[in-house]
Amino acid sequence: MNTRERDFKEISSAISSSIRISSPDAILAEGDSLSIIRKFPSQSVSVILTDPPYHSTKKHNIYGDRAFSEDQHYLEWMAEYAIEWKRILKPNGSLFCFCASEMSARLEVLFSKDFNVLSQVVWTKPNEPGFDGWKQKMKKESLRQWYPHTERVIFAEPACEGNLHRSPFGNLLKEIRKKTGISTNTLCEAIGAYGRVNHGGAVSNWEAGRNVPSREQYEKMCVVLLATGKIEAMPPYEDAVRPFMVDSSKEFTDVWTFPSVRPYKGKHPAEKPTSMLEQAIEATSFPGDIILDCFAGSGSTALAALKLKRSSISIEIDVKWVETIAARLELQGAEGHKAKKITNECLISGEQKSRPDQASLLAYTE
Ligand SMILES: C[S@@+](CC[C@H](N)C(=O)[O-])C[C@H]1O[C@@H](n2cnc3c(N)ncnc32)[C@H](O)[C@@H]1O
Repeated sequence: MNTRERDFKEISSAISSSIRISSPDAILAEGDSLSIIRKFPSQSVSVILTDPPYHSTKKHNIYGDRAFSEDQHYLEWMAEYAIEWKRILKPNGSLFCFCASEMSARLEVLFSKDFNVLSQVVWTKPNEPGFDGWKQKMKKESLRQWYPHTERVIFAEPACEGNLHRSPFGNLLKEIRKKTGISTNTLCEAIGAYGRVNHGGAVSNWEAGRNVPSREQYEKMCVVLLATGKIEAMPPYEDAVRPFMVDSSKEFTDVWTFPSVRPYKGKHPAEKPTSMLEQAIEATSFPGDIILDCFAGSGSTALAALKLKRSSISIEIDVKWVETIAARLELQGAEGHKAKKITNECLISGEQKSRPDQASLLAYTE
């Protein structure tokens, strides 16, 4: 059993009382995600990709969107999540948190206590005219600010000292290198990683958290450091370096253009396009990594994760959406994908009337 499988098993037993369905690579838990993640072992999750109620949108049909009378109360609630997210993320993990533009600046400041905020992604929707319904009828002359046509995604990594760029990998490398007594210049020379500008720059950049070594550079570095005999082992690349894999064939900027999910019977009011979630997961995780969504809604994050052969943990408080996620996971299983029912009380004893019908489910399974 590898470390990810062990983490998955430990999470599963820690939250067993909340689990509605599970399989070797998917867990669906029902309940308040803050209480549930407090039971997770520390440093057990690779990516948190989540979409909390936005609060500023005040939607009646999203649990929790109108729960806070003051912005500050919402921020205090999110601050409790930030503490837990930092604790349960692996040091080389990534956080994506969707939010509304109205709240993004304050959330970014809040997350900066525990994370290095690396990007504030702008999600823009090239929806064709007419698709946005009421927006077409809106009297543009009555606007008093630019119409908020975008949403934000705060992308961050766990921080060591809350400083810009100070990453867990940088600290780890510095600590190990010092133990071996090798200088940054000597290490650079030994692995052939010369900084373009100043000799020795690559290793000091990695230690400062400004950049990371490639797998090849890391492996060469392990050989040199281990050869000193002053350290016993080096962690595998997947456990040390935060993955970030983009190229010119994929979106590499902080502006993401994805159409909203088209309306259909049973659509979640805040459903995110799975193609956008796939892009985020593929760039920031390895196959087998654990992807957590604390506000799972319709389960799009889980479907994206399973499609990419990652493990998925979904937590949702609203039973109607728990049932939808269960059905979507089941549908995947039925079609020969990965999810397989083990326990599924919600589908047998839940409110059958609110279950989406099969046609609706197929309509939004990409
Ligand atoms: C913005 S929506 C997420 C939509 C989702 N990204 C999708 O693509 O379908 C937020 C979800 O969080 C759920 N929620 C609100 N408070 C929660 C809590 N304390 N614990 C777990 N889920 C919660 C809501 O029921 C809602 O489905």
